[in-house]
Amino acid sequence: EKIPVRIYPDLKEGSKFAAREIAELIRSKQAAGLSCVLGLATGSTPRSMYAELVRMHKEDGLSFRNVITFNLDEYYPIENDALQSYNRFMHTHLFDHIDIDPKNIHIPNGEIPKEEIKAHCVAYERMIEEAGGIDLQVLGIGNNGHIGFNEPGSSIMSRTRLVTLDTSTRIANSHEFANISDVPRLAITMGISTILKAKRILLMAWGPAKAAVVQKSVEDNITEQIPASLLQQHNESLFILDEVAAADL
Ligand code: GLP
Repeated sequence: EKIPVRIYPDLKEGSKFAAREIAELIRSKQAAGLSCVLGLATGSTPRSMYAELVRMHKEDGLSFRNVITFNLDEYYPIENDALQSYNRFMHTHLFDHIDIDPKNIHIPNGEIPKEEIKAHCVAYERMIEEAGGIDLQVLGIGNNGHIGFNEPGSSIMSRTRLVTLDTSTRIANSHEFANISDVPRLAITMGISTILKAKRILLMAWGPAKAAVVQKSVEDNITEQIPASLLQQHNESLFILDEVAAADL
């Protein structure tokens, strides 16, 4: 393997491992009086990890007061409180249940006027830098190898920007919407280079549908056609898999 992997019997165990790694980082930063900058992902993959972090907050006294978050991506256009927005997802699954300072939460804004998107993306990158860079980036992976909404063909140099979603991605995500035509055609996403600047990267993948793309990302050549394979360029990236997602390795 060109990227280290950890394989767990099921997504619950893998998610607990990821949550423990995050909690440990938060606590060690706390002990040093430092903030902890997390890059966060949405989708079905990280749900169980967020549930575990919420449990650790409620039962084990894990505090998020020193945590600053930057989400990977958001549909465009979308209302912040729409059922399908990633903003709503993050509040429902994590932020509403922990003690994070709301001003430390950053999510690309699906509501801004088109002419302001460029400046919004530049400002997003600047805020990440001003926070000291991302200490740990959480990722899922799309069936086509996308990370964030960096679809195949995204440049390794890409930064936060407006992108067009692949038809396959719109179909894969259409179950969240009433109808495929309701799935936004665009999104704002951190770029590949934004992601690769994170000090550590944890990519999670569960289930048989991800096995083929996991194998390509971890073992095949680095190619912009499989965005997750670009993580081979990062020396602190780790794939956390369940047995079925690891079946082709
Ligand atoms: C979505 C998100 C990605 C996510 C991926 C996989 O479109 N933009 O950040 O990793 O697709 O989704 P899921 O976790 O539901 O399989």
